[in-house]
Amino acid sequence: MVTPAVDLTAPLFRRELSLDRGHGEVDRAVLHISSLGVHEAFIDGVPVGPDVLSPGWSAYEWRLRFATHDVTELVRDGSVLSVCVGNGWWRGRLGFMGARALYGDRLGLIAQLELTFDDGHEQVVATDSSWTAGPSDTLADDLYDGQTIDAGRRPIDLTWHLPVVPLPFDTGVLTPYLGPRVVRHEVLRARRIWTSPSGRTLVDVGQNIVGWVRCTVQGPRGQEVRLRHAEVLEDGELGVRPLRDAQATDRFVLSGGVDHFEPSMTFHGFRYVEVTGWPGDLTDDDLEIVVVHSDLVRTGTFACSDPLLSRFHENVVWGTRGNMLDLPTDCPQRNERLGWTGDLAVFAPTAAYLFDVEGFLADWLVDLALEQEHADGFVPNVVPDVLKLMPHPPQFPPPESTAVWSDAAVWVPWALYEAYGDRVVLERQLPSMLAHLRRVQSLLSPTGLWDKGFQFGDWLDPDAPPDAPWKAKADPAVVATACLHRSARLVARAAEVLGLAAEQREATALADRVRGAFVEHYVGADGTVRSDCVTAYALAICFDLLDARDEERAGQRLAELVAQGGHRIATGFAGTPFVTDALTRTGHLDDAYALLLQTECPSWLYAVTMGATTVWERWDSMLPDGKVNPGEMTSFNHYALGAVADWMHRTVLGIAPAEPGYAAVRFAPRPGGGLTWCEGALDTRHGRVGLRWEQTTDGLVVTTDVPEGVHALLSLPDGTEVDVPAGRVTHRP
Ligand code: BGC
Repeated sequence: MVTPAVDLTAPLFRRELSLDRGHGEVDRAVLHISSLGVHEAFIDGVPVGPDVLSPGWSAYEWRLRFATHDVTELVRDGSVLSVCVGNGWWRGRLGFMGARALYGDRLGLIAQLELTFDDGHEQVVATDSSWTAGPSDTLADDLYDGQTIDAGRRPIDLTWHLPVVPLPFDTGVLTPYLGPRVVRHEVLRARRIWTSPSGRTLVDVGQNIVGWVRCTVQGPRGQEVRLRHAEVLEDGELGVRPLRDAQATDRFVLSGGVDHFEPSMTFHGFRYVEVTGWPGDLTDDDLEIVVVHSDLVRTGTFACSDPLLSRFHENVVWGTRGNMLDLPTDCPQRNERLGWTGDLAVFAPTAAYLFDVEGFLADWLVDLALEQEHADGFVPNVVPDVLKLMPHPPQFPPPESTAVWSDAAVWVPWALYEAYGDRVVLERQLPSMLAHLRRVQSLLSPTGLWDKGFQFGDWLDPDAPPDAPWKAKADPAVVATACLHRSARLVARAAEVLGLAAEQREATALADRVRGAFVEHYVGADGTVRSDCVTAYALAICFDLLDARDEERAGQRLAELVAQGGHRIATGFAGTPFVTDALTRTGHLDDAYALLLQTECPSWLYAVTMGATTVWERWDSMLPDGKVNPGEMTSFNHYALGAVADWMHRTVLGIAPAEPGYAAVRFAPRPGGGLTWCEGALDTRHGRVGLRWEQTTDGLVVTTDVPEGVHALLSLPDGTEVDVPAGRVTHRP
């Protein structure tokens, strides 16, 4: 690992190649590369690969990923290898407490170019004192604040380069990527450009996206073009308050000639851009909006006769894209963008239908397990855990496992196993899953309840005070104990899949004990579940905490509460993903649809009626009068509350795995809510599975697509079940 002898902003590392002679042509050239900070590498100015923001963000203390590029076509004698390294997650700002450079204050580069010649001779060029470094055209770069590029510095002066010096570094932390790298995914055009009431130039992209704007521009030398990004407008102007102190501003200094700018060492979550200093009139031809995220393959689709619901689903897809930029994040725009575990714990099943996230999330789970290993089984609230690197406010108790958030250790690998059917993820994660159970077990009261310590609980219950999102209706201990029960049962099943009898017994014993405690302390003789609110019933039902009679009564009470609430949402992060399932399971499908299709606030579709193009953090991130919620935590791109899409896939559409990885498929559409048709398809590990249903005057017509060799069953709303053959088949009433 090398660093410039003198510290620089976004240094450009450089090495000229002189090929060993007398061995013929280069048969193969491979570049392994990583950095402390984010890098872009070029050979003779040509990018070595499509990735940006590499090597992303991992638990750097123990794990730094490297990429491998085949550069055979690029190298020749005298080629120049140049690599620009920006602050990224290593040395830039991270988190909401103003911290920066949490991992280190020097940027570094480690690379190894391996050349194999015709005659088998090998030449290796590694990062050592033969490299030099110098300034690039980037004057400032930060993921939250944006990038400043000075075209006046081009072409970059390569003559006065500084030496590089070795940086102490343990190469044992280097590891290949398990998942995809971050790439430019697509390019959009501005939808509208206009002047705001205060006279500013505003651009609407038409979609809340994550990425950046690139442009080609010519203007007076030294003039600065400024692009500020935000998700919403407020009073006709750029609404930057939800970004908190993230500046989200790119600055381009013009050279006087034709300049091309692309700020690829930052990223912004935005739909609107305020452009200042543009020479002449700005037109939609001038800007390219580059959508950036991990290179995930889209696998699952959903569409239906209700345009609002279809748009909601589209919003869930966009939220997944934007929050899967190298790691699964809470949000992509404000001074946060952290791997909040709870958000993913509830969203993983949805993500695993929409995209192939197997490698992407498996990679993140390795970091989760590493963090845990160094913290006695405690699964931190964010992975990678940067909170542990910040000064801990003395008024708060030391961080400890919390329900839903820490349950990510179990719920996420289980979701991957169900979606993709590969037990390797369970094998790899089982120690982490067990460590989570054991840690939580040590926190239980003698009663067997998880009723001590801080919990996020049913975070963002719409009835909680806006500035105290943890003060939900549901008793946090009810939520926590229920979640622990779910985790213990899932770990027992994972151990069973792996044939680990002792671990299975251990997890089952814990599950039995917790269930007993839950019933004894939280379920009344009349079947009432403590807190008597929607989330309490939804979790008790979905997490199998009740016997048949109590479950039926709980379903009854749940449906009553949902109806009393006018079929508006009454749940937060914990309850929302499960409420429609609980209603369906207990025979209250109509209430589930009424909740799903509600458009009054709070509801899933309310945001859609307000023009949302992603799922919001709060039910009312934008208030009905168009004002932005005054709370200081108001993102317009959070995926957690979109987790209901999983129910839409399994129940509204009706595609679900009957065996892990869809080795067998269960089609069980449950039409309702006045929808007249619904369709979707999923690329599984066994081929494409598809379903379309339509309400006709003759009754329900269902068309199924099943790959060869996959057993499929169609369960109709009236309870009849038929085996479905491979190929496309239409089932008529
Ligand atoms: C994040 C959430 C997260 C929560 C937990 C927020 O700031 O954006 O999505 O799960 O904190 O406290």
